[in-house]
Amino acid sequence: MTPPRIACQGLTFRYSDDPGLPPVLDAIDLGIDAGQFVILTGPSGSGKSTLMTLIGGLRRVQAGTLSVLGDALAGAPERALEALRRRIGFIFQDHNLFDALTPQETLQLAMDLHAERYRPQDYRQRPQAWLHRMGLEQRRDALPRQLSTGQRQRVAVARAMINEPDLILADEPTASLDPHSAELVLQALQEAVRERGATLLMISHDPRQFALADRVITLVDGRLVS
Ligand SMILES: Nc1ncnc2c1ncn2[C@@H]1O[C@H](COP(=O)(O)OP(=O)(O)OP(=O)(O)O)[C@@H](O)[C@H]1O
Ligand SMILES: [Mg+2]
Repeated sequence: MTPPRIACQGLTFRYSDDPGLPPVLDAIDLGIDAGQFVILTGPSGSGKSTLMTLIGGLRRVQAGTLSVLGDALAGAPERALEALRRRIGFIFQDHNLFDALTPQETLQLAMDLHAERYRPQDYRQRPQAWLHRMGLEQRRDALPRQLSTGQRQRVAVARAMINEPDLILADEPTASLDPHSAELVLQALQEAVRERGATLLMISHDPRQFALADRVITLVDGRLVS
């Protein structure tokens, strides 16, 4: 049996050090395997994004255990978290594209994180293939400000996927998208799971998407309820 891609026990997190306030995440136990598509849902403020940033090594574990892609994160040095982040495909609602980079350049820069894997010609072919797949081949030399919200989000998805990460963390990736863009994004994410056994953890409020997932887990007030 391969170890789970994400495993945590008693994971507890607070933004405030006021012990009178309830924690934002309260003793979360969770295991997610390779090849699973899991949707994380629950009311606004229940701690979904906080949990996702902990799993992504973007925040430090305060209490409990958390292992991601085989690495234990509690007390891990910053450079270990950095190395982990490079192995994860992140998609956030506010896509965080660099203002000065075109889609093509954005994807090439992402590939540089794993330059050892690629041949020179890959830097042309892979971005081209991903831009095509995301319906952006006509926009590959545009700047982010010249792109629509949906187009920007599709660039962000291609950037997250281009290195074929084993783990994809997507925080409401389709929330602000038109139906066509949302469909392209969901298809690319699901194919990564089906075709190469990636693990996908996706935050979603959209009940229509729940049927696509292998599992739906719900956070309420920082606790898992299902
Ligand atoms: N950087 C921060 N500093 C202090 N408190 C924060 C911070 N980020 C989030 N919180 C608080 O932590 C709680 C959980 O926030 P979080 O963003 O994880 O919720 P969420 O489930 O993702 O909500 P939404 O569905 O609205 O995105 C909320 O009460 C929020 O106000
Ligand atoms: Mg959130």
